[in-house]
Amino acid sequence: MINTLSLILYRKTKKKAMSTIILGIESSCDDTSAAVIKDGYLLSNVVASQAVHEAYGGVVPELASRAHQQNIVPVVHEALKRAGVSKEELSAIAFTRGPGLMGSLLVGVSFAKGLACSLRIPLIDVNHLTGHVLANFIKVEGEDYDPPKFPFLCLLVSGGNSQIVLVKAYNDMEILGQTIDDAAGEAIDKCSKVMGLGYPGGPIIDKLARQGNPKAFTFSKPHIPGLDYSFSGLKTSFLYSLKDWLKDDPDFIEHHKTDLAASLEATIVDILMDKLRKAAKQYKIKEVALAGGVSANNGLRNAFRDHAQRFGWKIFIPKFSYTTDNAAMIAITGYYKYQDKDFCPIDAPAYSRVSI
Ligand code: KG4
Repeated sequence: MINTLSLILYRKTKKKAMSTIILGIESSCDDTSAAVIKDGYLLSNVVASQAVHEAYGGVVPELASRAHQQNIVPVVHEALKRAGVSKEELSAIAFTRGPGLMGSLLVGVSFAKGLACSLRIPLIDVNHLTGHVLANFIKVEGEDYDPPKFPFLCLLVSGGNSQIVLVKAYNDMEILGQTIDDAAGEAIDKCSKVMGLGYPGGPIIDKLARQGNPKAFTFSKPHIPGLDYSFSGLKTSFLYSLKDWLKDDPDFIEHHKTDLAASLEATIVDILMDKLRKAAKQYKIKEVALAGGVSANNGLRNAFRDHAQRFGWKIFIPKFSYTTDNAAMIAITGYYKYQDKDFCPIDAPAYSRVSI
């Protein structure tokens, strides 16, 4: 939606500046992040993660909002400092509007609005999921840049989402399939919790899986029509199998930790890749990208490389720091929206739930 006030401010800022400098702000869950992008190049990306949730085995929303409140000013300050950019040089502020935890989102949304108002520059609202997809377009001076060409497929896998997205343009995406219950990351985190491992479970399972046998155990796979996913059955199958094994051997988890992790990871990767392969075939697309926190997973990255060889896919995997929640992906999305003069009004509310 083109907002009149933002458009006036855009014209004013455009007159005085040749460069386009976007400040991105991300606060949808438990990472407070700010990033600066100048003319499409990333200058800084600062992330403050919140260790406070580790003791609870999951994100505690109220604690997350409080930590965002403490972090937001120093994080933005640091991002501007590292970029060597002053507030007055900014062309616009892009912020995550949703989906996410409402209390967390409100901190970033309110801060972005206040700063944009005081600087009299346009505001750009960014969908967090679109940001994950466009992380594949983050460009850094002096680093190779070979982004996917439209249209391409993106497997977006995070703690809250598992989706196959058809990306037709920066501002035109279609969800071809998505989870009907739990997300892949959520399933990994919950199984890891059942095993008594730490939080978040993804990186721990990944590390253990590297030393285990992926064929040691078999867990049930879903039979969902079309391109949708389901992970709740696998989670239940994992839980009940474990309960049975623990009856015979109370130390079963300790004795089989690496094999359990490897088998769980292999099952999740198989489920994800089966549908992605189906989508690639159905839409005759060979450019395939990965996005979201779970894309840090080594088993999934290896499966991508294997598919590239077997099916002639050209694959795109963002740098690790751009796969988990970060503001660089919000700033790059904001940068492309700025080119379209796609601004948002000052009274735009945050959305806890919103699709791409
Ligand atoms: O995208 P993200 O940082 O946050 C959102 O959900 O938006 O994703 C977090 C998810 C968590 O479920 C975490 O366990 C998972 O990504 N994750 C991993 C790995 N690193 C993070 N899952 C598997 N292997 C990893 N190496």
